[in-house]
Amino acid sequence: MENQVNRSEMVLRFLSEPSNINFGGNVHGGAVMKWIDQAGYACAANWCSSYCVTVYVGGIRFYKPIGIGDIVEIRAKIIYTGKTSMHVGIDVFAGKPQSHGQHQTTHCVIVFVAVDSSGQPVSVPKWTPQTEREKILENYALKLMELRTGIDEEIQKLGKIPEK
Ligand SMILES: CC(C)(COP(=O)(O)OP(=O)(O)OC[C@H]1O[C@@H](n2cnc3c(N)ncnc32)[C@H](O)[C@@H]1OP(=O)(O)O)[C@@H](O)C(=O)NCCC(=O)NCCS
Repeated sequence: MENQVNRSEMVLRFLSEPSNINFGGNVHGGAVMKWIDQAGYACAANWCSSYCVTVYVGGIRFYKPIGIGDIVEIRAKIIYTGKTSMHVGIDVFAGKPQSHGQHQTTHCVIVFVAVDSSGQPVSVPKWTPQTEREKILENYALKLMELRTGIDEEIQKLGKIPEK
């Protein structure tokens, strides 16, 4: 039996393990960053049907800690596509399996670029928002892009952006 998936969305769900622990006894922030990158990659690769790389991770906000043994749910969704880039909104939820409920712990937007076998950017299929909510998300992605231009200009002043 084939399981059809919505190509613009990806959900990863699993238990956080003792190996994910930080010095405070909860899940390590680095583990959460790895999971969101993996969920974002799976979502973007599924959308463009090719290999892609992370080009930008924007303002990760950790709202609440994730406990060891929590059910973690990572929801990744395409919210904008450019010529070669895919902007993926990520929301993380967690909660004890016994509690039957989850709370949001993290949000961020990651940008992936589809690349060919020599690492050069290639075009991706256009994503078009269908619902009001998706139109709001696309506008959010566009607004973040605008804000990033200012951030890039500040980084450029420090000479931290390498020449192409
Ligand atoms: C991804 C990569 C091939 C892009 O090469 P590039 O020369 O920067 O390509 P371009 O300038 O043509 O940009 C490609 C896309 O990235 C987007 N991009 C570039 N900088 C960006 C930024 N700061 N934020 C968001 N998107 C960005 C561009 O807007 C463009 O998207 P579009 O085609 O939809 O308009 C190159 O940057 C790379 O290899 N980076 C390393 C990726 C990697 O190894 N990631 C793993 C984690 S370290």
